[in-house]
Amino acid sequence: MLEIKSLSKHFGGVKALDMLNLSIHEGEIFGIIGPNGSGKSTLVNVVCGVFPPTKGDVVFSGKTVIGCPAHERLSSGIARTFQNIRLFPGLTVWQNLWVARNSIEDIKSESRVSRWLGKNSKVKKEIDEILEFSSLAERADELASSLAFGEQRRLELARATATKPRLLLLDEPAAGMNQDEIRDLDSRIRQLQKKGTTIILVEHVMELVMGVTDRIAVLNFGSKIAEGTPDDIQKNEAVQEAYLGYTEED
Ligand SMILES: Nc1ncnc2c1ncn2[C@@H]1O[C@H](COP(=O)(O)OP(=O)(O)OP(=O)(O)O)[C@@H](O)[C@H]1O
Ligand SMILES: [Mg+2]
Repeated sequence: MLEIKSLSKHFGGVKALDMLNLSIHEGEIFGIIGPNGSGKSTLVNVVCGVFPPTKGDVVFSGKTVIGCPAHERLSSGIARTFQNIRLFPGLTVWQNLWVARNSIEDIKSESRVSRWLGKNSKVKKEIDEILEFSSLAERADELASSLAFGEQRRLELARATATKPRLLLLDEPAAGMNQDEIRDLDSRIRQLQKKGTTIILVEHVMELVMGVTDRIAVLNFGSKIAEGTPDDIQKNEAVQEAYLGYTEED
């Protein structure tokens, strides 16, 4: 479904991505781990069209997306969440979802009035379902800025799913979460997979990555140093050395 081919992204002298090759299959949950600065967010940004690559190709469903603007990639089914929460703080929870839902092509053809009033019953029903799925129904009319941290993270994920992605890239969705919130996120990610969404999970929280992913790639200095099942990765010596032995105090 997604082919990353000899992908490089340089920022001046920094090789954030260095000839990276990855192949993500339809329907899987694919983990990407690696030390700070190893290129994980850069990969998400290049796939989503925030930056052009220096070299290489990104092929989604058989077609290159290089040169395609970010909003077209979103309409074609690629959505993401951000490492640092980026909601619309002055809009309500419902409005955040509605703006996201409105950004994809198929409701642009609805009548302008029903679109702007959010009265279209099909769209309204979809947003209500996402609110339920995200346990945010009771918060629908609250401003995003007034939500607790864990709820803001849930809204980030909800907003990305409102664009009906076929491929969802999650950049450290568990950052700052407590154990209950991580378990909750784990179950939501599995439910999204069951609904047919392919997921790329960039994460430092090993309990989540090792538990929920089908396969994992490990990056170091923008290159892949290992790829395999969570079991393979935990046993891999190069990974132990570059990353899994690492602690915040190191
Ligand atoms: N917009 C940018 N301009 C210049 N350098 C950048 C930019 N974005 C990333 N970099 C550099 O590219 C390298 C990879 O950064 P990236 O954010 O992709 O790492 P990461 O693996 O996501 O790290 P973390 O785990 O800390 O989120 C780093 O050296 C970083 O400083
Ligand atoms: Mg990052």
